[in-house]
Amino acid sequence: MGKFSTDINRSVGEFRLSAVLLSVLLSASASQAQPQHTLADQCPPSFALDSNNQCRLRNLYQLYDSLQDRGLGGLKTALPEHRDGFSPQQIDLGRLLFFDPVLSGDKNLSCANCHNPALGFSDGMDRSVGARGHVSQRSAPTLWNSAFLKVFFWDARAHSLEEQAIGPLFSDVEMANTPEQLLADLNQVDAYPKLFKQAFPDSEDAVVISNIATALSAFQSSLISLNSPYDRYAHGDAKALNPNELEGLNVFRSFVARCSQCHTPPLFTNQQVAVIGTPEPAGLPRDIGAAETFDAERLRGGFKVPTLRNIARTAPYMHSGRFATLREAAEFYTKGRGHAVPEGEELLLHWHISDPNLTDTELDRLVDFMGALSDESFMPNVPTQVPSGLLNSKTSISLVTASGE
Ligand code: HEC
Ligand code: HEC
Repeated sequence: MGKFSTDINRSVGEFRLSAVLLSVLLSASASQAQPQHTLADQCPPSFALDSNNQCRLRNLYQLYDSLQDRGLGGLKTALPEHRDGFSPQQIDLGRLLFFDPVLSGDKNLSCANCHNPALGFSDGMDRSVGARGHVSQRSAPTLWNSAFLKVFFWDARAHSLEEQAIGPLFSDVEMANTPEQLLADLNQVDAYPKLFKQAFPDSEDAVVISNIATALSAFQSSLISLNSPYDRYAHGDAKALNPNELEGLNVFRSFVARCSQCHTPPLFTNQQVAVIGTPEPAGLPRDIGAAETFDAERLRGGFKVPTLRNIARTAPYMHSGRFATLREAAEFYTKGRGHAVPEGEELLLHWHISDPNLTDTELDRLVDFMGALSDESFMPNVPTQVPSGLLNSKTSISLVTASGE
């Protein structure tokens, strides 16, 4: 990556820019850009390059075809279908875009603001804060393993990474950009038209919204986390889990606790919507969740079962970050079916939400086990410098310490 003047970056980090100042800065930083902007020609770890210059996922779980195990929490359950087949250049361009605040209307917010690699690609907040300080209704989900997802968002309203990526870019309360402004800004950064051309050599005009969506999807589908202690245990290393974690696994997949009925291995989500009756933050109205998506009252308060991969990194928990710790989240399930549903509120709770009467020790072991689902060995490199030269004021420090290049 080229090195730019750090003075420009600092000033960008400290002020909200006027449009005029911004265009001066964009062209100033672009003029200092070195022409050595090239995109990776190798796939990220976990992928192999095929003869069509496409990255293909390679993972031990692909050896398993244990349909009979599916849904029961079996160790050798096969992976669901996944998105791959992006080129190394598309993935790498997506990486640069993901961290570049030039994508947002006020040039101060990148995807990584709310999906920070150092925080499990979440943001550590109960509810995310978008453009102009707008507090959103929900928390930012992790992006690890999103290559395997069929439905996106807590309320399951999007069906592909591409469809999803456009949402935050042009949402008034998230990145608050417009398609015209975004394309104009990207074209103004010297490096981007060339990088887009490298990533999309067949596109006549490569800087278009659909290519932005493809590149972002390519990068996100490269975030694979399937090498946790749990995975090593699942593949046959009996010592990979310590006794406490193993005890936790057994509680997790027991028919008393029933966690694995919904948080099904190997992704630790069955990708379905379930109504479990989590409480809303004090004073906030009920988030009806999937009832709106499917126009179905029986799904009132229903949310997509979230993955538990890297869950130890993504506190606070649940759709509105109501629980600060994993212990609190686990405890929720044993306080009595529907205990947090306010009086007068009718929710059709899922039949796997029961009264398991877990002991304190069992809850502790569940927390130990969920901690064994952490794996960040394929953490992508956080760019030390993005092509626009803009720095992200909110996350620059934590992003840089997350990995560095
Ligand atoms: C202002 C904070 C914020 C920004 C900026 C942001 N997101 Fe998100 N993201 C969220 C929140 C909050 C949700 C959950 C929203 C919901 O479910 O209604 C979410 C959901 C998602 C999901 C769905 C994940 C899942 O498991 O369902 C993906 C994928 C995603 N964001 C990718 C991106 C990308 C790519 C960008 C940049 C173009 C981006 N986000 C920018 C806050 C943000
Ligand atoms: C009926 C399906 C179901 C069962 C059974 C279930 N969960 Fe969940 N789980 C969900 C859903 C749905 C959510 C999201 C709910 C929300 O945000 O309001 C969730 C959220 C969570 C979260 C927070 C995840 C995040 O990213 O914020 C944790 C931790 C969790 N569950 C652990 C467990 C444990 C431990 C058990 C067993 C004791 C369990 N779950 C049983 C469906 C289930």
